[in-house]
Amino acid sequence: MCGIVGYIGDKPSLPILINGLKKLEYRGYDSAGCAIVSGNERMEVYKAKGKVSNLEEKTQNDDACGTLGIAHTRWATHGIPSEINAHPHVSQSGNIAIVHNGIIENYAVLKEQLEKKGYTFKSETDTEVLAQLIEYAATEGNGDLVSGVRRALKLCIGAYAIAVVDRRNPDLLIAARKASPLAIGIGENNEEFFLASDASPIAEYTRKIVYLNDEELALIERGKELRIENLHTGSVDYEIKEVDLDLSMLDKGGFPHFMLKEIFDQPTVLKDCMRGRILEKDGKYRVVLSAVEQHKDILVNAKRFTIVSCGTSWHAGLIGKQLIEHFCKIHTEVAYASEYRYNDTVIEPGDVVMAISQSGETADTLAAIEMAKEKGATIFGIVNSVGSSIARQTDTGTYIHIGPEIGVASTKAFTGQVTVLTMLALALGKARGTVDEQEYNEVLRELTLIPEKIQTILQQNDKIKDIARIFTYAHNCLYLGRGWNYPVALEGALKMKEISYIHAEGYPAAEMKHGPIALIDDEMPVVFIATHHQLYQKIISNMQEVLSRRGRIFAIVTEGDEQVRKMCAEVMEVPATLACLAPLLSVIPLQLLSYHVAVAKQLNVDQPRNLAKSVTVE
Ligand code: G6P
Repeated sequence: MCGIVGYIGDKPSLPILINGLKKLEYRGYDSAGCAIVSGNERMEVYKAKGKVSNLEEKTQNDDACGTLGIAHTRWATHGIPSEINAHPHVSQSGNIAIVHNGIIENYAVLKEQLEKKGYTFKSETDTEVLAQLIEYAATEGNGDLVSGVRRALKLCIGAYAIAVVDRRNPDLLIAARKASPLAIGIGENNEEFFLASDASPIAEYTRKIVYLNDEELALIERGKELRIENLHTGSVDYEIKEVDLDLSMLDKGGFPHFMLKEIFDQPTVLKDCMRGRILEKDGKYRVVLSAVEQHKDILVNAKRFTIVSCGTSWHAGLIGKQLIEHFCKIHTEVAYASEYRYNDTVIEPGDVVMAISQSGETADTLAAIEMAKEKGATIFGIVNSVGSSIARQTDTGTYIHIGPEIGVASTKAFTGQVTVLTMLALALGKARGTVDEQEYNEVLRELTLIPEKIQTILQQNDKIKDIARIFTYAHNCLYLGRGWNYPVALEGALKMKEISYIHAEGYPAAEMKHGPIALIDDEMPVVFIATHHQLYQKIISNMQEVLSRRGRIFAIVTEGDEQVRKMCAEVMEVPATLACLAPLLSVIPLQLLSYHVAVAKQLNVDQPRNLAKSVTVE
C-alpha cells in the first residue's frame, strides 16, 4: 500500500515523478503529492486529494524545475484521505520532506514526546511524526540529516519505506526500508538515480536495480556512487540486479481497463508460465521445475505442506491443497496468512510452508513465512514479482511469470498460480511415485491445451456482457460450487464484491442448505459452477433446491450441456477438460462477469474504492 517515487539527476524531476506515480497507483489512490527541491533552498510541495491525475493537473502550470524530488500515492491508514494527510509531510521548520509507505506503530508515543518538546502537528498521520522526529534527531545531532534519519528510525517500531529530502541540500536523497519494499535504479555513470516501491517506474530509464534490505539506509548523492548502510552495523555491499520487465505489460494495450487486458492476456501468459517447464517428446509429456530438481530431498520427504496467502492467492491455495493431496498424497493445509502468523503453530521436521503471492509484498504473508522459517520450516514461494520481499525470503520456489498485474482485482495471477501449483503437484507426485503414469501424461497434455480453451471462452465476452446487465440490479448474489470448483465459487464472489460492490457470497453448493438458502428469492442471482465433473449430479440436486425457492440460476457449464441449461436463466459455456483443471476454465467467465457488471455500473474497475493491489500493512 502506498507508492513511493524519488529522483535525483540532471533532468527536471516532476515529470519523472508523476510518470512513476501513475505506475504505482495500483498501490493506493486516495491522494498524491510530491516535493521538488531546486537549489537556493527552494522546495515546492504539491498535494492533491484523489488520483495522481489530480496532482498532475495541479502541477501543470508550475515551473518547478528542480532535479531532486520525492513523490507519493497514498492508501490511507492513519487519517482520512485529504490534502492535509497526503504525503509528503514536512517538518516544523519546513526544511525536511518525507514520503512513507508502512505504519509506524509507536507513533502516538513518539508524537506525545515531540509535542512536549514544542512540536505541533497538522495531520493525523504517523508519517508527519516521523518527519518531525527526523528533524528533532538531526538538530540534536548538529543538523546532520543522515544521522538524524538513522537515529529517528532506530526509535520507530513498525514498517517503513521512506524517501527524505532537505530543502537546503539539493544534492542528497535518503531512502530506507523495513518490511516495505524499495528499489533504487542506477543511471549511466551515476548521473541519475531513481527510487520506487517496485521496479516498474524505473525500468524505462535503467535496468540496473538495487533492492534495499530491511533496516538499510541508502545515501543517494548527486554524481556519486550509491552508498548503502545497515542501520546498526554501518556500510554494506550491495548487489546490482538487471531487471527484465516487459514494458508493454505496463500499458493497457488498447483495452479500456487493465483488468480486461489482463483477463485477455491469460492465454499468452499461461503459455509463458509453462514455457520450458512442460516438455513433450513423441506424445510423452514431462514437467521440470528447477525448485523440485534442486530441493528434491526436502520436498519429496515433506510430511506436511501449509499454504499461507491472502485474498485471491488464498483461493489458489485451496486448489493447491487439492492438487498436492491428489497427486502427491501429502497432507496439506491452507491458512490465511494474517491468522497463521499469530497462531501457536507447531512446526515439525518435514514441514514445508508455501507462500503464494502475486505481489510478493503482502505484509501478512511475509510475516507468516518469517515466523515459520524461524521455527524451522522449509519455505517455498509461488510468487509473480521477481525479486520481491517474499521471493527473497523463501528457500526455494517457482515464479509464475505472468508479467506485471496492474488491475486491483487479480485475474491472470490466479490462473498463473493454479498453473504453477498443477505443475508442482505433478513434478512432486512423479518424484514421490504417487502419481499414476497415465494420469501424469494426460494432465500435462491437457494443461498445455488450456490457453487455447481459455481463448474460446473469451469469445463469449459479448454474451457475458449482456448477462452482466441483469446483475447490476442485484444487491446480493450467491456463488455455489463443489470439489475443484468450490474455490472458484469463492473467487467469483470475491471478484464481484471487489469491483462492483454487490454483496456476493461463495459457498460449497451443498452447504447452502445450512444457511444461505434462507436468502434465496427471485431477486437474488445464484451462480452455479456446474461443469461436467465429479459431483455433477449432486450439483443438479442443489440447483433443484434453489429453483424450488424461486431462485434465478446462472451457471457455468461444460459446452453442450443441455440438462443444466434447462434449469437456468442463462449459461456460460466452457470447453470440456479434466476435473483437476476445471478451475482454470470456469473462473474465466466469472472474471468477465464481474468486470462487465462494474463497467455497467460505471464504477472504477481498475481502482475500486478502499482497496489496493499490494497490501503492505498488516
Ligand atoms: C490484495 C489484492 C488482491 C490479492 C491480495 C493478496 O487484497 O487486492 O487482489 O489477492 O491482496 O495479494 P498477493 O500479492 O499476496 O497475492
